[in-house]
Amino acid sequence: GRRTTVPAVVIGSGYGAATTALRLGSAGVPTLMLEMGRLWDTAGADGSIFCDMLRPDHRSSWFRTRTEAPLASILWLDLVNREVKPYAGVLDRMHFDEMDVYVGRGVGGGSLVNGGMAVTPERDDFARILPGVDPEPMYRRYYPLANRMLGANSPDPAWFEDTDCYAYARLSRRHAERAGFGTTFVPNVYDFDYMRREAAGEVPKSALASEVIYGNDHGKRSLDKSYIPAALGTGNVTLQTLTRVTSFRQEADGTYVLTTERIDELGEVRGTAEIACEHLFLGAGSLGSTELLLRARDTGALPDLPAGLGEKWGPNGNVMLGRANHPWDTTGLVQSGMPALGIDNRHDPDNPVFAEIAPVPAGIETWASLYLAITRNPERGRIEYDAATDSARLRWREAQGQPSIDAAKAVFDRINQANGTAYRHDLFGDTRAFENRFTYHPLGGCVLGDVTDAYGRVRGYRNLYVTDGSLIPGSTGVNPFVTITALAERNAERVLAEDF
Ligand code: FDA
Repeated sequence: GRRTTVPAVVIGSGYGAATTALRLGSAGVPTLMLEMGRLWDTAGADGSIFCDMLRPDHRSSWFRTRTEAPLASILWLDLVNREVKPYAGVLDRMHFDEMDVYVGRGVGGGSLVNGGMAVTPERDDFARILPGVDPEPMYRRYYPLANRMLGANSPDPAWFEDTDCYAYARLSRRHAERAGFGTTFVPNVYDFDYMRREAAGEVPKSALASEVIYGNDHGKRSLDKSYIPAALGTGNVTLQTLTRVTSFRQEADGTYVLTTERIDELGEVRGTAEIACEHLFLGAGSLGSTELLLRARDTGALPDLPAGLGEKWGPNGNVMLGRANHPWDTTGLVQSGMPALGIDNRHDPDNPVFAEIAPVPAGIETWASLYLAITRNPERGRIEYDAATDSARLRWREAQGQPSIDAAKAVFDRINQANGTAYRHDLFGDTRAFENRFTYHPLGGCVLGDVTDAYGRVRGYRNLYVTDGSLIPGSTGVNPFVTITALAERNAERVLAEDF
């Protein structure tokens, strides 16, 4: 393959990567962004960029023959998943022995597929999550900056109380309050004014047309509408899509040399190339960045990478569950795909839980209330490099998820008791009420202060950085992307001031 040379490379285009690319570009550093997925800016034959949740097609999934939705069944019926053609689709479910990890694929990473919930942790919690980071500048400067850049906004309260599309959230709020739990509004990067106009029939529908997890055609300020155009607009950042970094090494003069593989949208390999750079930023996500570093260490390319690599991985205590609603408690046919409320039990010392009230945008009355509970499960797993398959393995046992289930159960047992309701046992393929064999929030593997210094510089090597969710040790107590972004802002500022 050919070899090109650039001053800086950013691997990935999720929160950490996009933030870093903007700050490098703004500082005048010519930067190449490499993303294994495609750019999602062109409508297909049906006039849509993305497919919706109810009729998933090839665009939904990263090289699968069948979709793998988080809600496996309704009334045990496999109504949700579809056969699809293998394609560079937007959602990937990475399979490991006892845990699956959902990630976004494409320009914008997880921002393309996620629920858009933009949550800033409480300051006391932050000190627990990242004890090595001074909270003062985070809360004075970097969290507000991240929220502003990401376009976090909140619904008009009067509209929220009235609109059919949040009947499901108001019902869950009522049930939580009856059990003595408080709820809180959660800001979102989906434009709530656009959603209001969707509800009024004034604009094409997206959040109100079952669009979530496989992308949103309208309304959502994913990174390809915020940080990434700003980065490209500096004139110093170039984006190369459908390009996967397979490995990298370091030459005697300190130059990093990446091996990359280019594919087309059907997965055909179009060629390999080497890219050399002086500064290398890993923003490939918790699994992606950790795998690249482990491969570099364990194959001997960068033998001095630290021993803590791969450690302190966690699923952010994620547990999904459903409750059965009474026949008279209907939630309506149209549910906004973007969550807007959370049950806030974070201050309970025994069972701290932040449970997002999740939609079931099935287009039918399901008599189900769905939740994604975020618990503070202290269990941690480990990512390892498996030489035989040249890939990462996630060491996480299903039993390690039990503390998450216990905490969620303590909260939702009380809600069920207060309302005379029960759990749904038909949603996860078998009869379980609590599903935590997957996570939306993979965190850790290259933990700040262990594998890197306090600003994301990888120990043992110069000009090598981690910028994404792998810096955070396994848990944030709330949805993580604002924290990932704010931390990337903070680290980029320091690195640009000192290393360039
Ligand atoms: P992220 O995973 O976003 O980006 C990594 C990028 O690198 C990807 O685009 C990937 O394709 C690319 N890549 C990986 N390896 C590569 C390689 N070798 N070469 C080239 N490119 C490579 N969070 C939240 O705060 N609020 C919410 O509401 C939700 N909801 C939600 C729903 C769903 C369905 C999911 C899957 C996730 C969420 N999340 C969420 C989680 C959130 O999206 C997640 O924490 C962030 O996207 C993680 O950001 P990172 O920067 O770590 O990487």
